[in-house]
Amino acid sequence: PYPNLTPTPPMGWNNWSYYGCDISEETVLANARALVSSGLAAKGYDTVTTDDCWMTHTRDADGNLVPDPTRFPHGMAYVGEQLHAMGLKFGIYEDAGTATCGGYPGSYSHIKQDADLFAKWKVDYLKLDGCNVPVPTGQSADDIYHKIYGDMSQALLDTGRPIVYSVSAPAYFEGEKDWHHVISWSAEVGNLWREGADVAMESSSARGKWASIKYNYGYNVPLADLQSPGRWNDPDFLLAGQSRLTGDEIRSQMSLWSVMAAPLISSTDLTKASPEALDVLGNKDVIAVDQDAKGLQGRIVQQGDGYDVLSKPLANGDRAVALFNSSDEAHTITTTAAKAGLPAGSSYLLKDLWSKRTTQTTGTIAANVPAHATVLYRVHAGTAHRVQPATAITWTRTGG
Ligand code: DGJ
Repeated sequence: PYPNLTPTPPMGWNNWSYYGCDISEETVLANARALVSSGLAAKGYDTVTTDDCWMTHTRDADGNLVPDPTRFPHGMAYVGEQLHAMGLKFGIYEDAGTATCGGYPGSYSHIKQDADLFAKWKVDYLKLDGCNVPVPTGQSADDIYHKIYGDMSQALLDTGRPIVYSVSAPAYFEGEKDWHHVISWSAEVGNLWREGADVAMESSSARGKWASIKYNYGYNVPLADLQSPGRWNDPDFLLAGQSRLTGDEIRSQMSLWSVMAAPLISSTDLTKASPEALDVLGNKDVIAVDQDAKGLQGRIVQQGDGYDVLSKPLANGDRAVALFNSSDEAHTITTTAAKAGLPAGSSYLLKDLWSKRTTQTTGTIAANVPAHATVLYRVHAGTAHRVQPATAITWTRTGG
């Protein structure tokens, strides 16, 4: 298999769902600076990816890809240098077919040449999209995609540069008969893979945005068996910071993506994002759930009319438990520590990872959850060491 370059889910920023093709060096670097100044980079959001439309419509005389001189006047190696100087990693987009989705030259029949060029530019992360892959009649699309994505995997390896490899192939088999098989080979050739649909673009309606979050959640949640530590299902970008979503909705997406151990890739204008949106992306306790060393995707442990309860096992024995109200009305959601997979015991500590309040329970885990909201607890079996006991503590000073 491709080397495990992502022991925890990748984190970063990508322009696509906010800017689409309207990208430039200025936009990318301004967002990179915002990642650093907001403190998000220090919390793990370290990879900045320029998505589709960074290049010109034709390759040069040697067959090399050419950065669009208006959008990227100093070229792509320069973007990489600037990102590296900020302590960030450089991600780039290409496509496995003859053309990208936006109509620019794809890597088809240029796999090795493009991999070498990316390595020369000091790229750290490649997202290889799956538009315009020619599938001759009578041949299996699954086999053809497998071959091309496998060839790029080998070509990246041959560069000798560790390049995280994001495979978009499964997104092109959505709903088709063999799509689980496509994920199984994606996990061999790459580090993460896109599946489901694209989350909504910035221009979408409020309803469309929330629907896209729910759709990708619903598509991703049954895929826990296809994931393993270091090999990640990718249900697409975090929309926090985009317009028309409520605070509850962006906290829900952040909670659900973290419980599902999804890549945390923001797509918004971080230079204009509200303090609330930056707080949502930057919630350290929630990020810790996503980045937990056990590396497992959480699963649904209970479902009711309009709500799901998810549980994710964590490395220290705790569980992250999400009470997700997908409906349009408030609900009281009730589950138990046993259903969430915690060991039997007489007492549990619940830390609400958004309000930061800690409460104790003998087993019931319940909350009143507003429409579209998620209550996310970190549940610890027993009475925690972290909490002051009720009895007085006598301090004994030893030495000076
Ligand atoms: C489809 C992908 O799923 C999107 O994330 C984006 O990369 C576009 N293609 C670019 O054309």
